[in-house]
Amino acid sequence: MSLLEVKNLTIRFGGLVAVDDLSFTMEEGQITSLIGPNGAGKTTVINLLTGFYTPNEGKVILDGEDITGASTDIVVSKGLSRTFQNIRLFSNMTVEDNILIGMQHRIGYGSFLSLFPNPKKIEWEKRAKEETTAILERVDLSKYRYEKSTSLPYGKQRKLEIGRALVAKPKILLLDEPAAGMNPVEKKELSLFIRSLLKDVKGILLIEHDMKLVMDISDKIVVLNHGAKICEGKPEEVQNNQEVIEAYLGRKGAHNNAASK
Ligand SMILES: Nc1ncnc2c1ncn2[C@@H]1O[C@H](COP(=O)(O)OP(=O)(O)OP(=O)(O)O)[C@@H](O)[C@H]1O
Ligand SMILES: [Mg+2]
Repeated sequence: MSLLEVKNLTIRFGGLVAVDDLSFTMEEGQITSLIGPNGAGKTTVINLLTGFYTPNEGKVILDGEDITGASTDIVVSKGLSRTFQNIRLFSNMTVEDNILIGMQHRIGYGSFLSLFPNPKKIEWEKRAKEETTAILERVDLSKYRYEKSTSLPYGKQRKLEIGRALVAKPKILLLDEPAAGMNPVEKKELSLFIRSLLKDVKGILLIEHDMKLVMDISDKIVVLNHGAKICEGKPEEVQNNQEVIEAYLGRKGAHNNAASK
């Protein structure tokens, strides 16, 4: 059984078919990448998988369970966690608080009790702090714990977002352009880090415009153009596919802009 099965997924916005009859699978222990020119529908796929959008047609099966059309909360509890193309951190909060806030939904005591010190609250806060310590160590941000999240360099903010996504202990991590805005040294480090995340999660879905990074770390690549899949395979298969080359050459200027977004 595949870890994730996407079957005939389709969504239309007015006359635009943003994702068009898309089918692919993700296998356990693998990095699956979703690539394609600007506007190809990549982020929309993540929005469909994670309950931000409801598909017009098609199914999403996670570990054998149909999660099509489930709300974002349910999807997270079933094991899909994402990061965003445009970093979404709470800018006035510390690094620690940005992780802690991801734990709020698991809070183990009522809102009335939370106003007063009580054993349940103290116990929960202790556990939450311990988990935060572990996650900050995992993303190598321990020494920035009490700093404002926006004071971190860009690459570290992206890692903090990944840390926050790990709070839910997901089966699958969905990363939307994690290398955007990074310099070559940060990108190299990130690619090793993403690969190492397969120790923490069962599978990773990666959207990325940096072709070197994608070719280096993907087990499988799915290529979208105008919402539809035009090719799927191992990096070397995709790299040499004529339709893929044409899709990229035809939109080269737009693609380069995206890489620097
Ligand atoms: N909520 C929406 N309403 C209308 N159109 C939308 C909506 N969301 C996405 N689209 C359109 O769907 C298409 C696919 O957008 P999407 O953001 O998924 O592309 P992408 O592959 O992630 O591009 P990029 O590489 O630039 O991030 C675009 O034409 C976009 O304008
Ligand atoms: Mg996108």
